[in-house]
Amino acid sequence: MSKRNNHLQRQIWKYYGDKPFPKELEKLIQSVSDSYDNYEKEHKLLNRIMDLSSQELFDANAELRKRNDELDRFVYSTSHDLRAPLTSILGLLQLIELSKDSEDIDKYLGQIRTTTLQLDNFIQDIVNYTHNKKLDITYGEIDFKKLIEDCLDKLNFMSNSESIEKVIEIDGPVAFHSDIQRLNTLISNLISNSIKYCKPDSKDSFLKVRVTISPKEAVITIEDNGIGIDKVHIDKIYDMFYRASAKSKGSGIGLYIVKEIVEKLKGSISMSSELNMGTTFTLVLPNQGQFKTAGKQQEK
Ligand SMILES: Nc1ncnc2c1ncn2[C@@H]1O[C@H](COP(=O)(O)OP(=O)(O)O)[C@@H](O)[C@H]1O
Ligand SMILES: [Mg+2]
Repeated sequence: MSKRNNHLQRQIWKYYGDKPFPKELEKLIQSVSDSYDNYEKEHKLLNRIMDLSSQELFDANAELRKRNDELDRFVYSTSHDLRAPLTSILGLLQLIELSKDSEDIDKYLGQIRTTTLQLDNFIQDIVNYTHNKKLDITYGEIDFKKLIEDCLDKLNFMSNSESIEKVIEIDGPVAFHSDIQRLNTLISNLISNSIKYCKPDSKDSFLKVRVTISPKEAVITIEDNGIGIDKVHIDKIYDMFYRASAKSKGSGIGLYIVKEIVEKLKGSISMSSELNMGTTFTLVLPNQGQFKTAGKQQEK
């Protein structure tokens, strides 16, 4: 006799006790027992599927809540960060209209230029953010030297930039393949922070960008001896619109975009910093060398 389903066996005991069991029913009982077994198997499977989907639902819900929260902050902060410079430009224009002194007018024009550049940077940040969210990844060979020098050239307009000593070191016997536009946004954000947050009156400020390439990955470090970041902010600096000190001059969206891009490129980022000593960011990005033979390839 094959083994009966436990649940069924309990029921048989309940109704028949120790009474002899009618043999003619044996076949029927065995088929009921098999059905019970199948039912239990399916029930367990269904429970497992339900557990999985409720976990997925829970995760999706948490992600949605996070995004919603970010959207709220995004709308609030962008409207503020877009309006504030426009309001100050309007104020400066009024001062120019009232002013008769050409030196004053030059000063106001300079302030209008700085404010307009800040506004332009902020809009560029938002463009980069949307670009990372929407566009496919496009792999191509990266010329790090050119990429870093181009970034430095574009950031030359920043006050302090000229007085900072810049060192670029690139090391690695192999080519590196990644998404050039996203890499450009990453490096440019980190370098601009090092320039923005250098010690204002220091004469020996430096910025060192080092890249080590291997067939597996590129390790990029961006080191400065600027104002540093207090330990209490370390967990939050990648949050949207988070500024780590009263001296912060930007909108606080740069490192949020950096983190989003690093996630998209399946890399990692870490940071070490000491207040008044300096900051080092380390990026590790996978080398997508397998895409090189077919030229530019796309990946979702
Ligand atoms: N290299 C750095 N040195 C000192 N502080 C930094 C550095 N990079 C980032 N920070 C701090 O982290 C904050 C967040 O950076 P980020 O998101 O790029 O914002 P933003 O550049 O617009 O201020 C900055 O406001 C600043 O306080
Ligand atoms: Mg920044």
